[in-house]
Amino acid sequence: MDFSDWGRKLLEWYSGLLSSELWVQLSFLLAGVYGIVVFIGRMTSAIIGIHAFFDKFFRPKPHPTQIRPDPARVLRAVWLRDVNAADSRKREPFTSKIPIISFLNMKGGVGKTTLSANVGARFADLGARVLYIDFDYQGTLSLMVASTANQDRVENNSYKLLQDQSYDAIRNSVHKFRELPNIGLFAAHYMLFRDEMELFANWAADNPEFDIRFALRKILHSEQCAKDWDVVIIDCGPRFTTSTINALCASTHIVIPTILDEPSAQAVGYLSKEFRDHKAELFPDLKLLGVIPTMVAQDPPKRRRPRFNDLEEEQLDAIEDKIFETWGDGDYMLREGRVPRRVPISRNADKIAYLVNDEARRVFGRTGDILLERLKNEGFSTSWTN
Ligand SMILES: Nc1ncnc2c1ncn2[C@@H]1O[C@H](COP(=O)(O)OP(=O)(O)OP(=O)(O)O)[C@@H](O)[C@H]1O
Ligand SMILES: [Mg+2]
Repeated sequence: MDFSDWGRKLLEWYSGLLSSELWVQLSFLLAGVYGIVVFIGRMTSAIIGIHAFFDKFFRPKPHPTQIRPDPARVLRAVWLRDVNAADSRKREPFTSKIPIISFLNMKGGVGKTTLSANVGARFADLGARVLYIDFDYQGTLSLMVASTANQDRVENNSYKLLQDQSYDAIRNSVHKFRELPNIGLFAAHYMLFRDEMELFANWAADNPEFDIRFALRKILHSEQCAKDWDVVIIDCGPRFTTSTINALCASTHIVIPTILDEPSAQAVGYLSKEFRDHKAELFPDLKLLGVIPTMVAQDPPKRRRPRFNDLEEEQLDAIEDKIFETWGDGDYMLREGRVPRRVPISRNADKIAYLVNDEARRVFGRTGDILLERLKNEGFSTSWTN
C-alpha cells in the first residue's frame, strides 16, 4: 500500500467522525473566531496609537524650575548710559564691509569656543583671512590656536582692543603663525578680567575718557581692517562684560551655540532678554546668523533631515519660542548645522579639531558651510572661497 492509499483512508475515517454539514459549521466558527481576534488586535493598536497622539498634545508639560532675579537688585540698563546723549560722540558709524561674528551664550560650557574656533578654521580652509579675537579671559581659544600652530606660549593682547586706539596702532600686535598662514589672533588671559573691570569702573564712576562700548567698533570697522581680513570671529565669555558689549556693538552677526537641555534653553531666554533691553540703542545693526544645537545625541550620517530625540525636539521648540520674542520670525534654528557630541572633538579639546581630525572636519565643515551660505545670501563678498 502506498502513501496515497493511507491518506485516502485517513480522510474517510476523519470525515466519518462528523457530518459534512458540521464540518462547514465548524469552519465558519473558526473563521469567525479568527476574524474577531484580528479585529480586537487591530482596534487595540489603533486605540494605543490615538492615545499616544493626543497624549503628546494634552499631557500637561512639567513646569521647569526657574530662578527669578530680584528686579530691584538687577544692575539694569547700566550699559545704556548716555547712549542717546548728544555728546556720546565717540561712537563710530556702523560701516563694516566684512562679517564680524560673535559667538555668545550666557551659559557656560555649551561649545562656544569649540564652535568659533572650528568654524573659523573652516573659513580659513576655504581661503578666508580669519582674525580670531579671544574675549574670554579663560583664554581657551588662544590656547587652541597656539597649540595647533605648535606654539608653547602666546602673549595676551586682546585687552588692547578695548582701549581708545585705531586699527593702525594695533595692527602689528596681531599674532600670526607660520603653520596657520590665513589666521590671526588676539589672545586673552585671566588678566583681561582685571582690565575690563578697570575700564568699566572708570566709566561708571562718571570719569569716561572715551566711550568704552565702541572701542572695538572703531578698530574693526576701519578700511584697513577690511583690507587685511575677510572674516572676524569673536569668542565671548558667558557674561555681559565690557568685552562682550564691545563685541556686540562691533559685530555684524551673532551665533548662539546651545546644548538642547532645560538649563540651556532657559539661558537662551535670559540672553534674549538682555538683547531686548539693549539692542535698539546699542547694537541695532546686529543680526542673528543662527542658533546652532551643540553636543546633540544623534547624527546619522546618511540621513538628509537631522533627527533629534524627543527631549531635544522639546527644547528646540522652547528655544525657538524664546528667539522669536527678540528676533521675530525667521529661519534661525540651524538644525542641519547641528554639532553632535563626538569623542574626537573632546579628545582634541586643546586644538582646532577641524584641522587635525577627519570626523571633526566633516562635522564643522557642514556647519561652517551653512553659516557661509547665509552670509552670502546677505550680500557679503565671499570671493575668497577657493
Ligand atoms: N561636539 C562636541 N563633542 C564633544 N565634546 C565637545 C563638543 N563641543 C564641545 N565639547 C567639549 O565640551 C567642553 C566645553 O566646550 P567649550 O569650551 O567649547 O564650551 P564654552 O561654551 O566655550 O565654555 P565656556 O563657557 O567655559 O567658555 C570642552 O571640553 C569641549 O572639548
Ligand atoms: Mg569658551
